[in-house]
Amino acid sequence: MPTSRAPSPRRYLVCEPRHFDVRYAINPWMRADVPVDTALAGRQWTALTEAYREHGHTVESVPPVPGLPDMVFAANSAVVVEGRVFGSHFHAPERRPESTAYETWFKAAGFDVYRPESVCEGEGDLVPAGRFLLAGTGFRTTRAAHREVQEFFGVPTISLQLVDPHFYHLDTALFVLGGDDGEQNIAYYPGAFSPGSREVLARLFPEAMTATRDDAMAFGLNSVSDGRHVFIAPQATGLIDELAARGYVPVPVDLSEFHKAGGGIKCCTQEIRS
Ligand code: ARG
Repeated sequence: MPTSRAPSPRRYLVCEPRHFDVRYAINPWMRADVPVDTALAGRQWTALTEAYREHGHTVESVPPVPGLPDMVFAANSAVVVEGRVFGSHFHAPERRPESTAYETWFKAAGFDVYRPESVCEGEGDLVPAGRFLLAGTGFRTTRAAHREVQEFFGVPTISLQLVDPHFYHLDTALFVLGGDDGEQNIAYYPGAFSPGSREVLARLFPEAMTATRDDAMAFGLNSVSDGRHVFIAPQATGLIDELAARGYVPVPVDLSEFHKAGGGIKCCTQEIRS
């Protein structure tokens, strides 16, 4: 019998894809010669925000800035733990102005924002998971940023080495499912990590779900869970079945237009943890 899973209400920050497009290529998914259907992207994004609200979550929106086509990927702007905001410092010069745009929103909402010295792409690579902060490196966020974020939050930070350019951010290869007896569990794609990092994940999360490469390539690990509902790409069919077998409720939301930029559900969602 699957366990009964309890959801907890979340506060999400998003950015409307009014200026979303693929205009440069900074990951293997992005191809400037493949057009984005901006009207469809808008409908898909609206469906995501509606799904969050229908499931009891609060959704707030940062005003989109013209000329910043990746600003829709709100997860990269910061990581927020216990109401403290560790901001971003993007690897790609094209994305650097996003940090200030999000900082402006956070300050107006009453938060102080710490601006890291090291290259650091927010929740894209820094994933709070219970007692630990899981931290990806290899393509974007640096190990120096892992030290900086541990010093800032005082939360034990586990460095994980990403090795496959398709999974250039930690949140494309791993997500937090939610709690079992106060401990958080995760789902991940082992092939995205170095052998040592795979071992670290297996030790820390012996109950973890592992996903296939196909489900990972379908952005199935770029999911958002509230502890019960898992907002997930409908293309990740194997993972969806496995989640249901474990007592979660998959909520499929198709963000196929955003996959063209290398992003999915989680990338479009910043969680504000109080
Ligand atoms: N085009 C964006 C980039 O390469 C996509 C970011 C996706 N965000 C994420 N949290 N994985 O930076």
